Amino acid sequence: MAIALARHYHLDEEKAARAGLMHDLAKYFKPQKLLQMAQAEGLELDPVDIANPHLLHANVSAIVAREQFGIKDEEVLQAIKNHTLGSPGMDLLSCIVFLADSLEPGRGSTTELEKLRQISWQELHKAVWKTCDYSLKYLLDSRCLIHPRTIKTRNWAMEIADRKQSNQVKSQKSKVKNCFLE
Ligand SMILES: [Fe+2]
Repeated sequence: MAIALARHYHLDEEKAARAGLMHDLAKYFKPQKLLQMAQAEGLELDPVDIANPHLLHANVSAIVAREQFGIKDEEVLQAIKNHTLGSPGMDLLSCIVFLADSLEPGRGSTTELEKLRQISWQELHKAVWKTCDYSLKYLLDSRCLIHPRTIKTRNWAMEIADRKQSNQVKSQKSKVKNCFLE
């Protein structure tokens, strides 16, 4: 899905493929190893990371990609790092890898997921926002801890999507106005 989205949005397909291939390098690392590697890297840990070290597999996968696979491309490393929680201000490659991971076919085919997949082909930031909302609802319903980065990513993506929408409305209004003036 990451490569197809990259093609759709005219992004570098090779970078998307590389990030897609390496995003879960540390998925099966033990919690203690994830914590150790994150600390050795000097990452700032949130209490939710400590309570649920699996969340660190995204950051640690980026470390493994850099250290063991020689990946130097910062965009690819960031996309690996952001694939689970996203990050406010993340670039478009990170957005598509985040969406591809959250909405991959293996996650199921509920109406809500299908709708999110549909939005991801239409508007990336709106899709990131709605996907964060979807995850937050799931976490609330299942009484799981919520990582603050999910909320920050959601707020950032929602703001961008809203801004794009109001710009579109403005430009449509000015087109209508111009029609009357002509
Ligand atoms: Fe992952």
